[in-house]
Amino acid sequence: MKIPFYYPFHGAKENEYINECLQSSLATGGAFSNRAFLLLKRLLGQENLLFVPTCSSALELSLALLPLKPGDEILLPSFNFPSAANAALQKGLIPIFCDINPRTQNICLSEIEKRITAKTKALITVDYAGIACDYDSIRDFARERSLFLIEDAAQSLGSYYKKEPLGIQGDFSGISFHNSKNIACGEGGLFFCKNKDFYALAQIYQMHGTNRQDFFKGLCDYYTWQLPGSSLPLNELSCALLLSQLEEISTITAYRRERLFAYLNLLKPLEEKGLAAQMQIPDYCTPNGHLYYLRFSSHSLMEKAKNLLYSKGIDARTHYVPLHASPMGRRLGYEPKNLPESLKAYETLLRLPLHTGLTKEEQEKICEILLNWGRRL
Ligand SMILES: Cc1ncc(COP(=O)(O)O)c(C=O)c1O
Repeated sequence: MKIPFYYPFHGAKENEYINECLQSSLATGGAFSNRAFLLLKRLLGQENLLFVPTCSSALELSLALLPLKPGDEILLPSFNFPSAANAALQKGLIPIFCDINPRTQNICLSEIEKRITAKTKALITVDYAGIACDYDSIRDFARERSLFLIEDAAQSLGSYYKKEPLGIQGDFSGISFHNSKNIACGEGGLFFCKNKDFYALAQIYQMHGTNRQDFFKGLCDYYTWQLPGSSLPLNELSCALLLSQLEEISTITAYRRERLFAYLNLLKPLEEKGLAAQMQIPDYCTPNGHLYYLRFSSHSLMEKAKNLLYSKGIDARTHYVPLHASPMGRRLGYEPKNLPESLKAYETLLRLPLHTGLTKEEQEKICEILLNWGRRL
């Protein structure tokens, strides 16, 4: 038996769209990009969206636009991918790492309150595993303290906070279409911002700092350099692939959600025996089935479970080395013990295979292996 950790979803129309795209000029912003844009606009109920090469570039773009100065501080969770911290450093900002809530692995408000200073200007959340942070309280807090809120929704497309989609919860948000995500085109990202003036600036920044967007709309005869900027396009071939997946997002999400709830149901005995806590889904969140994980009661139990699954051909994985405990985090002055819950998440969290290629029978097999092992402990 071999059960991979990732498995790419193939949209019914992907070959047709790619071939059709290859017949075009391949110009960025073409028919496939427009069609994918319309689907996302409908799904998210927002128009201030831009395709970008990655979620990391959406986060970089967000920080590039903000009126911040070197030395300003940005709060973000340590149990995280390095993208947001890199974006902060690129602008001379200081990333301040916060600990997480062990129920969701998301940044927690009491930690934010502990670490905020007069220099704090923005707060970056991560919806770990596609599970929403409690945005009402986070937004209230950000508003009271005049902080910009940036949502790293890399894993969150298809999830909801109350009835609202993730990926539009921040003043700025970024979504990833990396091959590990529910909707994937190899590499790709989506940028969102609430404010229309920032959105206009984002369009200029994204296109080399020029007013090329106005030129495309016929609003000027030629385009020129307006502001500092970069080149952050998502190429048309990726958009063709993305479209084929977005057209099937409800099927993809429903299948993944079904597998997620099946894990939660089947693996209850591990929790009841005190061997591992299952990931928790707060009432306010509808998940997208991006990840399922267990947090074992110790590092050695997690390692034993991982090795057991591996010996049976099942690829189960740990997740982030917390940023504060990484070599770069240590260069920034942190020690691993500073944020104990993030460190514990690294040491005890194990993700099980969850994807559209995972059959019900395979999933039951994975659970049976873990349950049999748990019974013997
Ligand atoms: C929380 C988080 N943010 C950002 C990223 C990076 O996304 P991308 O590869 O699209 O830049 C990841 C990658 O998995 C992630 O987990």
